[in-house]
Amino acid sequence: MTPDDSPKTHAARAALDYVQDGMVLGLGSGSTAEIFIALLGHRVANGLRVQGVPTSTASAAAAREAGVPLLPIDHVERIDLTVDGADEVGPEFTLIKGGGGCLLREKIIANASDLMVVIVDDSKLVSTLGAFPLPVEVDRFGFTITAKKIYDALAATGIARPEIALRMGRDGKEPFLTDGGHFILDCACGRIPDPRKTAELLCPVPGVVEHGLFLDLARIVIVGDAEGAEILER
Ligand code: A5P
Repeated sequence: MTPDDSPKTHAARAALDYVQDGMVLGLGSGSTAEIFIALLGHRVANGLRVQGVPTSTASAAAAREAGVPLLPIDHVERIDLTVDGADEVGPEFTLIKGGGGCLLREKIIANASDLMVVIVDDSKLVSTLGAFPLPVEVDRFGFTITAKKIYDALAATGIARPEIALRMGRDGKEPFLTDGGHFILDCACGRIPDPRKTAELLCPVPGVVEHGLFLDLARIVIVGDAEGAEILER
């Protein structure tokens, strides 16, 4: 399989159908979103006029390389469409995101968008969220205390013995830092039986900057497979 006919490429290509001339676009992060950005760049080279709002330094770099014009976030009043990947897609388009560590900016931008389209390969569809460890972005100050409170919150929503690990950087020696300078705690839950309750209990924990449960944000999920792409709508 070449990159051109990979499941991720099929999903990313199908998302181009939602892009219209003049749009302000949230540009997601991760490998699937970067394929979308590269394909978008071809359209821009052929005359499409859009402005991108990147969700990470990595997606900003991908957009620059692809020739997609960028709009500084502080100049953004509204976003027409955000196209982003996901680590898991569960029932009712509940999502786990943040595998790449960009969840805070991704959520700010998705939440400010008129439409969020999620692009995934078919391995990401699950009947229950939680096999993928839930990323939680936390302030560095007192993160071990925050981790204990997160454990309690997860346990209170029926997650038996969650395992919480501080994400390390590529060198394995220093903690990973998000674009915003925070730590990520990866919470291996096994399954998350009640994502809404879990989100509700995580939000008020002091030190939690954002969690990777994206609820009620995606309206369209495009699932790529070896043959093409299927469009799911809510
Ligand atoms: C980035 O932090 C994530 O939310 C990504 O959107 C997610 O990890 C999906 O990435 P891939 O498209 O690389 O699987």
